[in-house]
Amino acid sequence: MAFKTLDDLGDITGKVALVRVDLNLPMKDGSATDVTRVEAVKPTILELADKGAKVLLLAHFGRPKGQRHSTMSTSFVQGDVEKVLDKEIMFIPEVMGPVVDQSIGILRNGDIGLLDNIRFWPGEEANDPEFARGIAAHGDFYVNDAFSAAHRAHASTEGLAHHLPAYAGRAMEAELKALDAALGTPEPPVAAVVGGAKVSTKLDVLTNLVGRVQHLIIGGGMANTFLAAKGVDVGKSLCEHDLADTANRVMDEAEHAGCTVHLPYDVVVAKEFAANPPSLRTCNVHEVAADEMILDVGPLAIEALGDVLKTCRTLVWNGPMGAFETEPFDTATVALAKTAAALTQDGSLTSVAGGGDTVAALAHAGVKDDFTFVSTAGGAFLEWMEGKDLPGVAALTA
Ligand code: 3PG
Repeated sequence: MAFKTLDDLGDITGKVALVRVDLNLPMKDGSATDVTRVEAVKPTILELADKGAKVLLLAHFGRPKGQRHSTMSTSFVQGDVEKVLDKEIMFIPEVMGPVVDQSIGILRNGDIGLLDNIRFWPGEEANDPEFARGIAAHGDFYVNDAFSAAHRAHASTEGLAHHLPAYAGRAMEAELKALDAALGTPEPPVAAVVGGAKVSTKLDVLTNLVGRVQHLIIGGGMANTFLAAKGVDVGKSLCEHDLADTANRVMDEAEHAGCTVHLPYDVVVAKEFAANPPSLRTCNVHEVAADEMILDVGPLAIEALGDVLKTCRTLVWNGPMGAFETEPFDTATVALAKTAAALTQDGSLTSVAGGGDTVAALAHAGVKDDFTFVSTAGGAFLEWMEGKDLPGVAALTA
């Protein structure tokens, strides 16, 4: 995968860099509850500023649907960005036109400006070439450092690359290298862990993975759908019974492709979904009672899955193995994540994980920093796992 990086930039002193970042931060009481996305783009912003560019940040915040919305201005995240960068930045309440020109005139080399929510303008989501041209007119080059928005073919994520010299930022560069190592040109054997509540949301992921990995480990509520499709009585577990044919098709495709599908053979069940419920017990999957629900993978299966990972060189992980937010149903996720982290630290496994719940699960297990790469992208990571071309990435590699 060939794309230009910041290493390909010449002298950028006094040049205007238009930098697409993802500042779509979770907020509470006016400030961000998680600034991981700002930390991710910090190296790119500071590198460009240190090299003397005037850095203009382009970002969306929420889904205002093409009009100004008083609660969705990027000015709400200005303070959080300043804190992470440890630098003052100028808020610019437009994305093009005289106000932007004047602001660029005020900014000194190495200063940073934050443009308002790009989605206030309908041309953004319509990927209108005129809109992209209008923004591009203010910059000398374009840097995309927002992998998590790269599944959107919008003006700031895709269109701008056609109007200015385009470069991947440091976060984008790291993300693309990690993803390539995990599924593009991985070292086999490759294992994929796919968990989460529903098969229906990850069908394309499963279909893509069976042709690419040697071991597919299915956990979470979606494992129940597969077990039920195989004739196992899963009691009152979360289960999409109407997807039995689909689950069987995935298992058939896996068999043809030489991919082993791993489903739990022992499970943790309870009669009610609550922390440490009195009805909690561990049993074989064939012994789930009609009034019980499966809430986690059992200890024997965890050990066996750990052994599978020990035979692998590459791992890609999306989704928790059980109802990990509620104790003790975090046990399987934590144990398997710790095994993967230890193998990664030993140098025997390249491990890449991503998706909203997954990052939270790995953080809960205390191993987020021990994986080879953890992506903060949600939808973009899933679309990449589905094998789709991401427009924002395609525009950089064209
Ligand atoms: C995200 O939060 O996952 C990205 O910023 C993309 O946001 P979107 O789903 O509104 O395009």
